[in-house]
Parts: sequence; C-alpha cells; structure tokens
Amino acid sequence: MTNGREAATPGVVAGSLNLGDEALNERVGRGLSMVEETLYAHLSQGDEILQDKVMHLVRAGGKRFRPMFALLASEYGDKPMCEDVVRAAAVVEMTHLATLYHDDVMDEASRRRGVESANARWGNSVAILAGDHLLAQASGIMAELGTNTVKHFAETFGTLVTGQMRETVGAQGGDPIAHYTRVIEEKTGVLIASAGYLGALHGGARAEYVQALRGYGHAIGMVFQIVDDIIDLFSTPEESGKTRGTDLREGVFTLPVLYALGEEGEVGERLRALLTGPVTSEETLHEALDLLERSGGRARAAADAAVWAQRARRHLEVLPEAPATRALDALVRYTAERLG
Ligand code: IPE
Ligand code: IPE
Ligand code: MG
Ligand code: MG
Repeated sequence: MTNGREAATPGVVAGSLNLGDEALNERVGRGLSMVEETLYAHLSQGDEILQDKVMHLVRAGGKRFRPMFALLASEYGDKPMCEDVVRAAAVVEMTHLATLYHDDVMDEASRRRGVESANARWGNSVAILAGDHLLAQASGIMAELGTNTVKHFAETFGTLVTGQMRETVGAQGGDPIAHYTRVIEEKTGVLIASAGYLGALHGGARAEYVQALRGYGHAIGMVFQIVDDIIDLFSTPEESGKTRGTDLREGVFTLPVLYALGEEGEVGERLRALLTGPVTSEETLHEALDLLERSGGRARAAADAAVWAQRARRHLEVLPEAPATRALDALVRYTAERLG
C-alpha cells in the first residue's frame, strides 16, 4: 500500500509498517491485509458502472491511518484484530473515503492520493454518487456490528457533515480561530476518535481504555488536520499527492493563514490586502504562498499542533505499558512531523 508515490514514512504507511515491535508489526500487518480484503470484497462487487469509480481511489492507496489506528486500539481487549474489529476498521476507511470523494467536489480539487480526483476524471455527479455508494456499502457492513455501532456512526457522520457545513458557511463574524478549531474537531477529530473507539470496543477492551483511545484519537485527529492544513500550503504535490494551495483557492483560511493574517508589519499587511476571498489567479496564489512562508503562521500552527500532541500523549497514560502503547506514542510524533 502506498500513497500513489514513493512512500517511506516510518511507522504508518502500511507498505513499510514499522510499529517498533516485530510481533506487533506482524499482527497489525495481517489485520491491514484483512481490511484490504474486506474493502475489495465489498467494493469490487455490485454493478460494474460503480466499481471502477469507487476502486479508483481505493487502489490509489492512501495512508490507511484510520484503520491502522482502529487495529492498534483493538490490542487493548481480549479479541484483538477479530473479524468485527476488521469490519469496523473497513467501515471507518470507507466512510473516510466517501468524504474524500465529496470533499474533492466541494474543493474543486483535481488530485487525490497521487492520482486524478474522481470529479476531475468523471465530473461532479459521478464523484458524488461514488461517495454515496461507499456510504451504502459501509452501512451494510455496519449492520453486522450491531445497533450501538450504527448509532455511534450516525452521530459521528452527522458531526463530520456539520463540520464540513460549518467550514462552508464560514466564521460569519465570529472569532476565526475558535471557528477553525470547532470545524476541524467536527470534520476530522471525531472520525479519528471513532476509529479508536470502535477498534477498542470491538476488540473487547474495558470501558476506561475505550474512552482513553477515543480521547487520544480526537487529540491526534486535531494534530492530523492542523498538519494537513500546513501541508496544503507548504508541501509539494509529490509529498502530499494533492494540489498545493487548494484551501486558499477555495477561500478556506486555515490556521497558518489566520495567524499570518493577524500579524503586524509588512507581510501581514500585504496578506490582508491579498486574501479578501478565494484566490483565483496563479499569480496571487504564488505571492500569498511566498508571504506565508515568510510569516510566523506555520510555526504558530505547529505550536498549536504540539499542544494537541501533548493532550494525545496524556490519554496514553491510562493505558498499560505495551508495544501498542509505544506505537501510539510514536504515532503522535509521526503525525506532527509528516509532510504528506
Ligand atoms: C485527508 O485524510 C483528509 C483529512 C482529514 C485531512 P488523509 O490524509 O488520511 O488521506 P489518505 O487516506 O491518506 O488519502
Ligand atoms: C477535509 O479537509 C476533511 C474531510 C474530508 C472531512 P481537507 O479539505 O483539508 O482535506 P484534503 O486536504 O482535501 O484531503
Ligand atoms: Mg479538501
Ligand atoms: Mg487539506
């Protein structure tokens, strides 16, 4: 599994899984293979007019961050990597992927996972329907996991959609940083928290551990999205697999931009004049990216990510000393430092 490009990130990318413990690597590696089998089994069946569209981004890879975390979370119970854990991990990845199909329509994005986005290749209608098909398939698997999981999913997905909607309508005169924080909690934190929760729950972990893994997932999810927003501005397309500056083009001002916009001095002033709405020309985009590089926005956003990283680590204190706990600790650093 790769990101559709050379992916040698230690720790997470499943193709080079290194969780710091041989036996754990093997268990999680096997679990991830079963998740892949589940994805392929459910998504490569059905009417062939849907198959190639949904398999397009499944095959392109991605980090499989959420299913991997769900599998790690299942280590704390008496049924690690059991069939239901694998199902739950697949449901979370399918849900995530569905939101990517829809998000690329909203963001008019042309690249995803190192390949052409579905909307760029087939148009918006097809991309929306492919996302819907993924959600339909995820619901089918979820039904086998019981009504509690279905209810949990309904809440999780409802919150995610609320976050996407909140981002779309904007801060509307409210504090932009508080708005940003709430949006990323809803659109990203909650689904990664869900991966930890469902993995631990179906793995048979006790309630205290389930809560800790949910809290850890929420906090690392915040790190994950702040860093994704840094990546959008500062990473190359080869690193990210996506187009640079998509958020600015959409007029979505993320944390590094919000901090830079609030800066005193020449850089802040020029950015305030430049960023009054969506960035439409390549020339303006390049100037804005240059200014952002000269600003303190990236460092301040990274400092906020470090605070969330600390919160994530604190949840680990509840968990027993074990290879999985050390892997989750390493995952915090990977998430904070990743470039793509
Ligand atoms: C992208 O998620 C969307 C965000 C919530 C930032 P990922 O960065 O996990 O995307 P893939 O699955 O690796 O492609
Ligand atoms: C979208 O955030 C998160 C969800 C899909 C819920 P972004 O718009 O930043 O994600 P990318 O950068 O397109 O992956
Ligand atoms: Mg997007
Ligand atoms: Mg992004």
